Amino acid sequence: MLLFLHVLGAVLFLGNIITAAFWKVRAHYGKQDLHNIHLTVKNIMLADYIFTVPGILLLLIPGHIMAFQLGYSLLTWNWVSVSLILFSISGIMWLFILLPLQRKMIRFSEDSLRLGEQTAAYRMVSKKWDIYGTVATIVPLITLVLMVWKPGT
Ligand code: HEM
Repeated sequence: MLLFLHVLGAVLFLGNIITAAFWKVRAHYGKQDLHNIHLTVKNIMLADYIFTVPGILLLLIPGHIMAFQLGYSLLTWNWVSVSLILFSISGIMWLFILLPLQRKMIRFSEDSLRLGEQTAAYRMVSKKWDIYGTVATIVPLITLVLMVWKPGT
C-alpha cells in the first residue's frame, strides 16, 4: 500500500511537471495568442496545486515511512538519501523560484493581454521559467532512475 501511494505520487508529480512544459510550449508555438497564453499560465499554477502538491506529499510521507521500515538511513550516503537531497533541490527550486515566476507570468501575461502585445517583462520571466523548469524536471527524473536502479543494494 505504501509503495502504491508512493508510486502514485511519482505519477502525479512527474506527470504534471512534464505536461506543464508541454502546455506552455504549445501556448507559445506559432502565432502568439495572448488570451491562450494567459489562460495556460493560470492553469499551470492551478494544476500545481491539484497535482504537484499531493504528488509531493505522496512521495515524501510514504517514502520516509518505507525508508524507515526497510532500514535505509537518511543520514548516510545511499540511493535513498541522495534521492532525498535531489528531491529537496527540485522542491526548493519550485517553491522559491518557479512559483514566484509563475505568479509573475500570470500578472505580466494579463498586462500583455490588456496592452494587446507581449511585454518584454513577460518574455523575460517566461524564459527564466523555461530554464529553471527544465532543471527542476531533470533532477526528479534522475531520482526516478535511482529509485528503480537502487545502486549498491
Ligand atoms: C522524484 C522523487 C521520487 C520518485 C519519482 C520516486 C519513485 C519511486 C519508485 C518508482 C519506486 C518503486 C521502485 C521499485 O519498486 O523498483 C520507489 C521506491 C521507493 N522510494 Fe521513491 N521516489 C521519489 C522520492 C523518494 C524519496 C524522497 C524517498 C525517501 C524519503 C523515497 C523512498 C523510497 C523507498 C524507501 C522506496 C522502496 C524501495 C524498496 O522497495 O526497496 N523516494 N520510489
